[in-house]
Amino acid sequence: MSVEAFDVVDLIKVKRDKGVLSTAQIDWLVDAYTRGYVADEQMAAMTMAIFLNGMERSEIRDLTLAMIASGETLSFEGLGKPTTDKHSTGGVGDKITLPLAPLVASFGVAVPQLSGRGLGHTGGTLDKLESIPGWRASLTNDEFYEQLRTVGGVICAAGSGLAPADGKLYALRDITATVEAIPLIASSIMSKKIAEGTASLVLDVKFGSGAFMQDPARSRELAETMVQLGKDAGTNTVALLTNMNVPLGRAIGNANEVRESVEVLAGGGPPDVVELTLALAREMLALAGLPDADVEAALQNGRAMDTWRAMISAQDGDPDAALPVANETHEVLAERDGILVAQQALPFGIAAWRLGAGRARKEDPVHHAAGIDLLAKPGDTVTKGQPLFTMNTDDPARFERALEALEGAYRIGAAGDPVEDGGPLIASRVA
Ligand code: URA
Repeated sequence: MSVEAFDVVDLIKVKRDKGVLSTAQIDWLVDAYTRGYVADEQMAAMTMAIFLNGMERSEIRDLTLAMIASGETLSFEGLGKPTTDKHSTGGVGDKITLPLAPLVASFGVAVPQLSGRGLGHTGGTLDKLESIPGWRASLTNDEFYEQLRTVGGVICAAGSGLAPADGKLYALRDITATVEAIPLIASSIMSKKIAEGTASLVLDVKFGSGAFMQDPARSRELAETMVQLGKDAGTNTVALLTNMNVPLGRAIGNANEVRESVEVLAGGGPPDVVELTLALAREMLALAGLPDADVEAALQNGRAMDTWRAMISAQDGDPDAALPVANETHEVLAERDGILVAQQALPFGIAAWRLGAGRARKEDPVHHAAGIDLLAKPGDTVTKGQPLFTMNTDDPARFERALEALEGAYRIGAAGDPVEDGGPLIASRVA
C-alpha cells in the first residue's frame, strides 16, 4: 500500500468524531505506523480518541489482523499433535502457567507458551523461571519446535518478530495513559496469541484489586471481546473470569513461586492454585480434543512432574538445584486473636515488588529470592504473635517501603465477620 493512501489527520478526525474506520484505513494506519511514516504524536492522538470513543467490533478485528500482519506468524501444522495455550491478564501470585503447561503437555498436547517479563506489581513468568539455576528463556526457532515435538511443553521468551506493531503501540500507550482501553488491550493480547499459531486458547481474565482491570463488568467485556476475536481468526478461544482480590496461593515473588508450583506438581500446594490449574487444564484439554483427561490424577501420580522436569532440563535448567534464598527476612505477626478477614492483592503485589521481586523499568534486574510468603490466608483463625507473612529481600533497606505499602492491606476480625475475598475464585466462563 502506498504511504500516501490516506491522510493520517483525516483518520484521527474519524475517531475523534466517533466515526468508524474501514479495513483499508486500519491496515494502512498500522502499516504506516510500524514503518515510521505515521509519527508517535499522531498515533498518540489516535489511541486517545479510541480510548475515549471506543471501537466497533469490526474495527477491533481489523486492528488485530493488521497487527498480526505486521510481523511473522508461527505454524504448528507439521507437529502432528494438537496445540493449546493459555494467557492470563496477570495478577499477584499468579504462577499458574508453571504447573499448567507441563500438566497439559503431559497428555501429549503441545503447549507453546511464549511469555514475557514482569513490569510493575504483576510478575512475569520468565522472571520466575529464571530463578532456576541454568534455565534459559531464549530459544532458537529450531530449539522451540524440537522441544514442542519431543517434550510437548515450552515456556520461553516471545521473539520481537511477532506482531511488532503491538510492541511499538504498547510502549506508546504506556506513556500516554491509553493502556486501559478494551479495544486496544484485546487487540494487543490477541494479535500476539494468534500470531503465535496456537490452534486453541484459554484466557484467564482477572478482575479485582490486584488485576489489571478491577471492575468485573469491564473484565467480562474484555473477555467477550477477546473470545470473539479468537473465533473470528479461527483460534478456538474460551475465557474464565477469575477473582484477583486476594493473592493467589501463598507465594508472591519469583523463586518462592517456582517452589509453590513444584508443590502443586507433586500433588500438594495451596487449594486455590490447584483449583485454578485444574480448571484451566480441563478447558485447554477439552479444546485440544481430550475432554475426559484425568488432570487431578496427573498431578498426583507424577506424570505432570515428569514433564516439568523434562521442560526445565531441555532449557538447560537443573530441576533438582536449590533455588535462591534471601539474605534477610522479616516476619509480620498477628497483633491479636481472631480471623484473618482481609488480605488485599494489590498492596501485597506492590510490597513484593518493592522488596525486589519486580522491576520499575524494563532494563532493571529482578531479585529472584525477594518476595512475600503468606503464612495465613483469609478465613484462617490466627492467634496473637503468630506470623501472618514473611517478607524476603537481599536488601534490608527495602523493608520499610514494603511495609508502607501494606498499611491497611490486611485485617484481623472477629469470628463471624465476613471474609473480604470478593467471592469465588472462578466467577464465570465465556465461550
Ligand atoms: N497485555 C498486553 O499484552 N497488552 C495490553 O494491552 C495489556 C496487557
